[in-house]
Amino acid sequence: MTPGGVHSPVRAFRSVGLPPLALTEAHGARVRDAAGREFVDWIGGWGPALLGHGHPEVVAAIERQARRGLLFGLVSPDEVTLAERVTARIPGLEQVRFVVTGTEATMSAVRLARAATERSGLLKFAGGYHGHGDAFLIRAGSGAATFGVPDSPGVTAGAARDTWIARYNDLDDVDRVFREAPGGIAAVIVEPVVGNMGCVPPQPGFLAGLRERCDRHGALLIFDEVITGFRLGPGGASRHFGVTADLVTLGKALGGGMPIAAFGGRANLMAKVSPSGPVYQAGTYAAHPLAIAAALAVMDVLDGDPGLWARLDAAGERLATGLKTAVRGAGLKAQVQRVGSMWTLFFSPRPVRSWDDADAVDRDRYAAFFRGLLARGVLLPPSAFETAFVSAAHGEAEIAHTLDAATAALAEVAS
Ligand SMILES: Cc1ncc(COP(=O)(O)O)c(C=O)c1O
Repeated sequence: MTPGGVHSPVRAFRSVGLPPLALTEAHGARVRDAAGREFVDWIGGWGPALLGHGHPEVVAAIERQARRGLLFGLVSPDEVTLAERVTARIPGLEQVRFVVTGTEATMSAVRLARAATERSGLLKFAGGYHGHGDAFLIRAGSGAATFGVPDSPGVTAGAARDTWIARYNDLDDVDRVFREAPGGIAAVIVEPVVGNMGCVPPQPGFLAGLRERCDRHGALLIFDEVITGFRLGPGGASRHFGVTADLVTLGKALGGGMPIAAFGGRANLMAKVSPSGPVYQAGTYAAHPLAIAAALAVMDVLDGDPGLWARLDAAGERLATGLKTAVRGAGLKAQVQRVGSMWTLFFSPRPVRSWDDADAVDRDRYAAFFRGLLARGVLLPPSAFETAFVSAAHGEAEIAHTLDAATAALAEVAS
């Protein structure tokens, strides 16, 4: 009935050698499957559950809005308020447009960058994932990497030709692309902290180096903050790392579980978007009232809880420290990489800084570790190349349960 039995490939669990897990409930830091088994969940809906699954204020806002109207198809005051609140948070975001998915946001940002620069080249990083637009399915991480299909059939040679690939965390490689495509690069798109080859932080100076090179070559810098926006801090990665991009994409945590994403940037660039300007972009479900209501509730919660990110960081630190101890105890060589509430355990003898490192991790061992945790009631991403997420709902009980399970599972995979 459905290809692979799923509506998004990584849900098929193929890389961990299991049938898909069918979930029926998600609350806080836990999910329940159709057989009634409960799991401590570190997938977090792939990022949206920053506040935990089904935060009560978010659910209440959605219920209130559903009674007022499901869909307007026209402007509503709430979307104006949300635009004001989102632009106030993210550096460089003077105007924003709401869309439904992260894929739409990145595709629209790249179209705008191409129109603004009158160039066609796009520089992306090997292992970086920016949704399933044709231009991005060239050496994309996570889902594509999991299945060993870095270039999807159906992506035209023309689309592939316009996408240039550099190594993440390697400014010399970025310089090489700018040399090889003189005057041809419209934009550099980057996950400021990569989530789609597992959690890979930028090396000091990498993001600032990208900013400098874009300025030098007249290209635009796009921060794909679909994962990092609101998760790394109140102002996303832009404020966290002190580097301002020309265009920013947001999604996931913004909607607290409802489908909403956004792209935005400097007013003079956004003025080129239809109907202010000629760059076409539209959507029946764009700024969907239920999603706007959910996102406003997320903003309320974030505004009322400035200590959230410090707590997430502390919880992440406790978990990572415990995992490192468990790894040592099992006599394994593995890396626990973490930035704030994003984390990954890589079965790799060396730190993972780029796709070259990620590609060399021990996938089989990750799959065995995943199965060992699942059997003990802990759900990790079913891929060695997807970051895991701490949410505000993960407390001591979930961390302790996970560390006990990880200690036992690591002992198994080591033997
Ligand atoms: C960094 C990044 N950009 C874009 C996307 C695409 O978002 P969506 O799945 O909502 O289309 C994702 C999805 O995982 C992502 O991680």
